[in-house]
This record gives sequence, structure tokens and C-alpha cells, in this order.
Amino acid sequence: MSENEELKPYQLPLEHPNYAYPRARNPYAARLAEFEIKAFSDSDTEKRPGQWLSEFADTSAKTPLIVEIGCNTGHVVRAWAERSPENRYIGIDWKFKAIHRGLEKAAKKSLKNLLFLRANVWRLGYIFAPGEVDEIHIYCPDPWPPKSQWKKRFLCRENFPVLQQSLKSGGILHIKTDHAGYFDWIEEAFAGQEAGWETVSKTRDKHAKHPNPEKLDIPEVTLFEKIFISKGIPIHEWVLRKK
Ligand SMILES: C[S@@+](CC[C@H](N)C(=O)[O-])C[C@H]1O[C@@H](n2cnc3c(N)ncnc32)[C@H](O)[C@@H]1O
Repeated sequence: MSENEELKPYQLPLEHPNYAYPRARNPYAARLAEFEIKAFSDSDTEKRPGQWLSEFADTSAKTPLIVEIGCNTGHVVRAWAERSPENRYIGIDWKFKAIHRGLEKAAKKSLKNLLFLRANVWRLGYIFAPGEVDEIHIYCPDPWPPKSQWKKRFLCRENFPVLQQSLKSGGILHIKTDHAGYFDWIEEAFAGQEAGWETVSKTRDKHAKHPNPEKLDIPEVTLFEKIFISKGIPIHEWVLRKK
């Protein structure tokens, strides 16, 4: 018997195909169903690969599917959804309470082109079918600064192929971080995988030429990005296109 066969599904490594989320005890878990706008959580986020477009209120649409990972309360993804009703948006975050807040705010605007997922991004490859997504945005992901925690960094060597698999050919991966060390790490993780991607743009100081970056607002900048801008911390950005 292998080591993993003795484990319960929720004890398996997150990347394992048989992993299943443990029963959620968070008080907000049951409350995600309070809204007309749909939200999915935990293992329920893995039952619709290839079918996400049919979950939006307007099921006839064959429009771009744009995903923001680590969306928090969805301040950016909500603003995009409001601004571009023709596109479909999915915001993913780990925090039940943040997703609940995002739903509350999106419901007030009656957004019909937005879904929220409370899920662990390390399960991305089980949420979406290959080539299902047009754009993936990851803004200010947790940098896990101590070396002992680097293994928790999502943008690592093993996850670039997962991101690439989820994207359509020509699809966009947009990364922004305030953390220079994490940006170095991302570049190292990416090394050797260049063949599958084309760099659209890369900068270590996105707002350097802006006369007053503190004036920038959501969705051009995120909530975390605004804090870093106010502290004078440069924002590192990398935009990649899947070949
Ligand atoms: C530093 S915050 C950045 C939030 C937002 N993108 C911004 O720039 O303002 C990181 C976000 O990622 C979420 N997050 C962290 N680990 C995650 C995981 N494994 N899966 C999904 N979301 C995660 C956190 O809950 C948090 O909302």
C-alpha cells in the first residue's frame, strides 16, 4: 500500500487527483448561496471544467473568460465586470468571508457576467479544462518571504504548465507583485519554459513613468498595489502570452 492510499482525500497533497476539500466549517460557507450571483466552493468548483461559460446568467454568450486569482473581495474583477458587460469574469479566492463580501457588492450592481469561486488556486488544473480561459490575472500574490516558505509560492516551476494548460492558445497571463524577491523567483521558475510563451511586456517598476501613481485607482491598480505605491515600493509586472 502506498503512503497516499492510507490517507483521507483531504489529507492528500493538494495537487493529487483524488484530493477532496474537507467539510467547510467556516460560517460564511453556507452563506455563499444567499445571492443571485453564483458562487461555488471547494470540491464543487471542480465539477464544471469546460462548462464555466454556461454558469453565467447569459448562457448564450461565447465571450472571453477572464479569471482573477487571489481576487480578495473582487474589487478589481467587479470593476472589470461592470465596465465590460460583454466579457465573463471569475474571481477566485481562498477566503470565504472575502468571497461573501464580493458577492454582496456584486449583487448590489446586479452583475450578470461574474462568478466567484472559493477555492485553493493550487487546484487550478482541476477547475478549468485545457484551453478554457482567455486571461489569468494574479496580482500581489502572497510572497511568503522566508526561505522555509518559498514552497508555498504559487508561481513556481510546477505551476507554469498548469497555468499554460488552462489558457487558450494566445491567452494572457498577467502577473503583478510588489515583492522583488518573489519576482526573481518567478523568473527562475520560468526558466526553461520559454518555448510555450511569449513575453508581451516585463518591467520592474510599472508606474515609474506615471506623474502621480497615487492617483491611479481600481481596476488599473489593486488595493494592495495602492498601498505599495503609497509606500514608494515599485510594482513588478510580467505579461505573458501562451503560444
Ligand atoms: C496579498 S492578497 C492580494 C489581493 C489582491 N489581489 C490585491 O492585489 O489587492 C492575496 C490574496 O490571495 C488569496 N490567496 C492566498 N492564497 C491563496 C490560495 N492558495 N488560493 C486562492 N487564493 C489565495 C488571499 O486570500 C488574498 O485575498
